[in-house]
Amino acid sequence: MDASRAAVAPKQEIRLADYQPPAFSIDTVDLNFDLHDESAIVTATSRLTRQHGTGTLILDGGPYMTLKSIAVDGKPLGGNEYTLGAETLTIHAVPDRFTLEIVTELSPKENTRLEGLYFSGGNFCTQCEAEGFRHITYYPDRPDVLARYTVRIQADKARYPTLLSNGNPGETGDLPDGRHFAEWHDPHPKPSYLFAMVAGKLGRLSDSFTTCSGREIALNIFAAEGDLGKCDYAMASLKRSMAWDEDTFGLEYDLDVYNIVAVSDFNMGAMENKGLNIFNTKYVLASKETATDADFDHVEGVIGHEYFHNWTGNRVTCRDWFQLSLKEGLTVFRDQEFSSDMTSRAVKRLDDVRALRMMQFPEDGGPLAHPVRPERYIEINNFYTATVYNKGAEVIRMMHRLIGPDAFRHGMDLYFQRHDGQAVTCEDFTCAMEDASGVDLKQFRLWYSQAGTPALVITREREGGDLILHVEQSCAPTPGQPEKKNLHMPLLVGLVAKDGSELRADVSGTGEWTDDGCLLQVIDARQSYRFKNVPEGTVPSLLRGFTAPVTMRHDLTSEELAFLVQHDGDAFARWEAAQYMYGDFLLACARGAGKAEAPPHEIAETFKSLLSDTEVDEALLAELLALPSEISLGQRMDVLLPDEIHRVREGLASHFAHENADAVRARYAELSGASYDLDQTSKARRRLRNVLLKYLAYLPDAEALVCGHLEQADNMTDRMAALVIIAASDFPARDEMLAAFYNTWQRDDLVVDKWFAVQGQSSRPDAVEAVQQLMQHPAFKVANPNRLRSLISSFAMLNQVRFHTVDGAGYRLLADTIAHVDKINPQTAARLVAPLGRWRRLPEARQALMKAALEGLLAQVESADVRELVEKSLS
Ligand code: TRP
Ligand code: ZN
Repeated sequence: MDASRAAVAPKQEIRLADYQPPAFSIDTVDLNFDLHDESAIVTATSRLTRQHGTGTLILDGGPYMTLKSIAVDGKPLGGNEYTLGAETLTIHAVPDRFTLEIVTELSPKENTRLEGLYFSGGNFCTQCEAEGFRHITYYPDRPDVLARYTVRIQADKARYPTLLSNGNPGETGDLPDGRHFAEWHDPHPKPSYLFAMVAGKLGRLSDSFTTCSGREIALNIFAAEGDLGKCDYAMASLKRSMAWDEDTFGLEYDLDVYNIVAVSDFNMGAMENKGLNIFNTKYVLASKETATDADFDHVEGVIGHEYFHNWTGNRVTCRDWFQLSLKEGLTVFRDQEFSSDMTSRAVKRLDDVRALRMMQFPEDGGPLAHPVRPERYIEINNFYTATVYNKGAEVIRMMHRLIGPDAFRHGMDLYFQRHDGQAVTCEDFTCAMEDASGVDLKQFRLWYSQAGTPALVITREREGGDLILHVEQSCAPTPGQPEKKNLHMPLLVGLVAKDGSELRADVSGTGEWTDDGCLLQVIDARQSYRFKNVPEGTVPSLLRGFTAPVTMRHDLTSEELAFLVQHDGDAFARWEAAQYMYGDFLLACARGAGKAEAPPHEIAETFKSLLSDTEVDEALLAELLALPSEISLGQRMDVLLPDEIHRVREGLASHFAHENADAVRARYAELSGASYDLDQTSKARRRLRNVLLKYLAYLPDAEALVCGHLEQADNMTDRMAALVIIAASDFPARDEMLAAFYNTWQRDDLVVDKWFAVQGQSSRPDAVEAVQQLMQHPAFKVANPNRLRSLISSFAMLNQVRFHTVDGAGYRLLADTIAHVDKINPQTAARLVAPLGRWRRLPEARQALMKAALEGLLAQVESADVRELVEKSLS
């Protein structure tokens, strides 16, 4: 049977306001996968019950599968009893309760979209979130249809010895012709996006975890046999995650097994499929030889993230995709808290804020801005964004701050009591927090519906002995939201007295002193807070802990910032003061006022005294010594001047290095020679030593030193710190060093990705041609998302000065690449578009060049994914 299809129409916009509950519920689904090298036959047998309406049943189904047969209650349907559309299957008349059997045929080997059932490294695997299940069978592919799944997989035993699906394992056995089968049963009703299946030849690392109620859970990580030695950290992280969720939220695991499979072709980081997580190898494999300290942290964070989804996402899931942040924002908050508890809270916060500013702020300030809970979309895959994830996590963090940790924990308990087993909304979560705390979150809810980054302006006034802080909030218009309302936000501030001690002055109005500062409630457009009897010379420390995702302008002088860098008791505020201190000066230089090589006295002195500071944590010290990135400086300019930023930042770094050469050398030497460990102290030392290395790279003997740093390193953190510098240098040995690194690591995909990335980020003037050449390198695989992103995203998203080369070659390179990848993997192509939408803040000539690149791309685009973003970017 091969029904003809309707022509592919452009995708319709979906609106939150149009939500309707599903017409049918599904009690059980039995899936049978008959896997062959060139095809897969899927038989799906479901028990459906009508919930409302009469007549037809409409199922979702994509264009890449072939419908073989349909039967209702065992009776095969004829061609006139159903209609096969481009994206739906409509069965014209069905009873109120019935069994539906659908057989489809798929071609996993041809699936380069990496969505639905596909092949990676010789293994079958699936990716169903958000709407991949509809490429496996016809089904109501929406998160509010929850069913119990039983899965049977049949495949060649020699080639596919491992057969996995969700839930607990059932029967296994041999079949004729060298085939075998395995059955899996998942007792927890789940939406189709959480379905997963894997069949292949995989190595296995096994362990176990005993839960708080004494149940023993079998833990397995499956990866290519040769990678098994790099799975220990992921396994340890999994066990820590399981213990942490019990200790922190009283949440216990609920199946007998927890399986993780690492695959090298994956569109995102990882996927929380019930009992069968599928991971990008990037977030599983780690060894001291091949992974940096940051990589280890990411492995732990993502392992935690997917594990925590078991409750926030799986047990309680989303009613519809507009509620995506219900699971993602909350789960990011949970993984951030987990990582804070496992590592250093102060440094973790700073890393998270940096990531938010780097990824989310530009999104919120540009053509792709959308609320944490969007109201409309064309392609849902385009809404797995920094706003939904990272700003969503900040929204949860603000609730946590506003109602306090105890009430927050009660709110979580209440949320699970009320909604376990349900598909719910962001509003249900907020209600649980409100009911548990008694705090009115009415105005606070606007954080879910209003896009844009609020801007705070904080000014000071002295009256008698009192210090008054005036706080003004505003928010620029975003697409579709010209008027903005005032938001309710927590603003934590401190007062640092002249001698460096913390001062607690009585505060009038909506302010309350807590352990870490005074928590001000910001509610109105303009508010004032009076601190009584504050001695002259006291410096306010503003937005401690980054308690709200806002930008801030204040009237602190360079001297006051320098004072905070030395004395602020809040690590985040201290780092922030350093960023402003360096940043204000550099921006003034970039605009033409002054030379970067001649910083004012207080900045020079602060840098110098930091170099010999032995009290502050070394990881924080590393961050206090590091200049703001070119990108973060660029974000503070109304008109972005990439070349000027690059020039002045290099100028100041070089000046600091030359002025303090002996001190930098001495501190670097002190930190050298330590043996490798992964504890916080060792990581902090490497961080500091590698920041110092960057300064040393400006000194005359740099080449020998940096190359030596690379050659003597016994770990990838140190190697990469040197390689980044080498790639951006014109050391005579540069090319030779890069070639040697490649030769050494060419068999390790994740390290080869790093090799591409450092070259994509290189600020050498020939960067565009270098990237073009690297795209011809035999190891460059455009269809592999990790490899593609290692070169192209690092160029377009991290290499500000060269992406914006004045002739527009960087823009054209990115646009051409997107057009090419669009035909292979639209989802991944779409994730490269954002940098081309940032033309509004460019100097005029470059604006025109970027828009021309976008228009050229629009003319070639095939997918709805890329089209949606390119059109928004141009408008
Ligand atoms: N839910 C996944 C997570 O955040 C995200 C994800 C994995 C995803 N693969 C995807 C989202 C593919 C969209 C498409 O953990
Ligand atoms: Zn997630």
